[in-house]
Amino acid sequence: MAMAKIILLLVVLVPIRMAAARRDCPKVPLLGAVAACQKACGTKLMHDLCISMMRQGGADMSPSHMERATVYAILAAHSAGNSFDDTKLAASNQLSQNSSLSTTLRNAYEGCMNDYAPADSSIDHIADEALPSCRFKGLADEYTRVITSVEKCRVRLLSPTLVKTPLYPMVLADRNKAVLANLLGKLLGI
Ligand SMILES: *[C@@H]1O[C@H](CO)[C@@H](O)[C@H](O)[C@H]1NC(C)=O
Repeated sequence: MAMAKIILLLVVLVPIRMAAARRDCPKVPLLGAVAACQKACGTKLMHDLCISMMRQGGADMSPSHMERATVYAILAAHSAGNSFDDTKLAASNQLSQNSSLSTTLRNAYEGCMNDYAPADSSIDHIADEALPSCRFKGLADEYTRVITSVEKCRVRLLSPTLVKTPLYPMVLADRNKAVLANLLGKLLGI
């Protein structure tokens, strides 16, 4: 009975330890959350977004608490991915439920859904696979693909009427989150 419990504990604990160990990528700096934001961000807009993203993501903000930069990059990529999902849901709800959408608006929203598909798959790959397993090769291009895909949708919405739709501020926020994720990724030498 006791032996079975110990074996069960080992089975549960070993994968957790391994998952944590994989984030200890070689040559990745160890730093506090606030320091990571200061180091990564050159503008007040990005810096403030970084601090609020860290808080919302549950990062320990005390200056004495250090984490591998990988942890912050993963947090930012997850935060951007979740934000993309909210935007896609808002757009698809409008497309399926709002019968008073103009053709222009409908085309723009449909275009944005297409733009978001590569952004979404790339940010998920970055957050869930590449960063946790320390595979940084090719990630600079993948971050660029995320940003340019979201930016394509933002530019699509830049007409005087489309820019006033509720989707525009969501897309703008997504673009900024994608840029922030990339900036934190650069702390890993990406
Ligand atoms: C439907 O679309 C119109 C035009 O963009 C918008 O003004 C309205 O708020 C939308 N309705 C809902 C319920 O979202």
